[in-house]
Amino acid sequence: MKGIVLAGGLGTRLYPTTLVASKQLQAVYDKPMIFYPLATLMLAGIREILVISTPTDLPRFESLLGDGSVWGIELSYASQAEPQGIAQAFLVGEHFVGREPVALILGDNLFYGRMDLDRIVRDFREGAVIFGYPVRDPERYGVVALDRDGRVTSLEEKPARPKSNLAIAGIYLYDDRVVELARSLKPSARGELEITDLNRAYLELGKLQAIPLGRGIAWLDTGTHESLLEAAEFIAAIERRQGLKIACLEEVAYRQGFIGRSELLRAAEAMPPSPYREYVELVAAEQT
Ligand code: G1P
Repeated sequence: MKGIVLAGGLGTRLYPTTLVASKQLQAVYDKPMIFYPLATLMLAGIREILVISTPTDLPRFESLLGDGSVWGIELSYASQAEPQGIAQAFLVGEHFVGREPVALILGDNLFYGRMDLDRIVRDFREGAVIFGYPVRDPERYGVVALDRDGRVTSLEEKPARPKSNLAIAGIYLYDDRVVELARSLKPSARGELEITDLNRAYLELGKLQAIPLGRGIAWLDTGTHESLLEAAEFIAAIERRQGLKIACLEEVAYRQGFIGRSELLRAAEAMPPSPYREYVELVAAEQT
């Protein structure tokens, strides 16, 4: 399976922080936000990844992430000229997707905990998979309702009266029909190709599966100053307590077997003296 990180949008709610660097380039505690969704894809075993952003920000992502070879992955880039909705990622990324299944993750979504995404990706055969996460304020999100057998009964984007408390998290798996289905979508009232409409197209085909994320998993939002601060505090609390880093891409790559110890050491050597470098060196020094 391939992966797409969608890091577009203007991040206007974070103005003026986002004037010169987009939201997904901002720090969440000790590393840029986009490291977290990238780590999520890498932990799912995905190594061929397309990063989509605005024409202005794309070069910044390229200079931050390069071609991905330090992490044993292949990164490519595409620009979304106008932010016209999440589902537009499949039109922008049409050639990248080709005839393969693809995972889409939003560049400002942070996941922490055992989601078993590697197994879900391995077992994926066809259709689409979305993830439902209980939240206090479902009206802010796409909302999925399920029947007793876990079948999807409704999908709504930011409903005034949500039919459940399950928000649709910003990670989605699709089969190779996704580009064709995205092409058939009409813009919504807010002028966007809605990801919820794409998911509804799969629902109508009888091919949409919704997996509830357990309460042991953290799904964090970073769209406002408050939620960004909360996410940073969450990451900081766990990292300080454990002495381990979340979404250190060099460590993820090493533990996933994408790179070996000598590549890990080489990556560390290229870093300026910093706590991040010291951490990578500690990982490399572990006795296995
Ligand atoms: C988007 C999707 C929504 C989803 C959310 C997850 O909302 O439209 O269905 O629940 O991402 O972060 P937006 O960020 O555009 O408000």
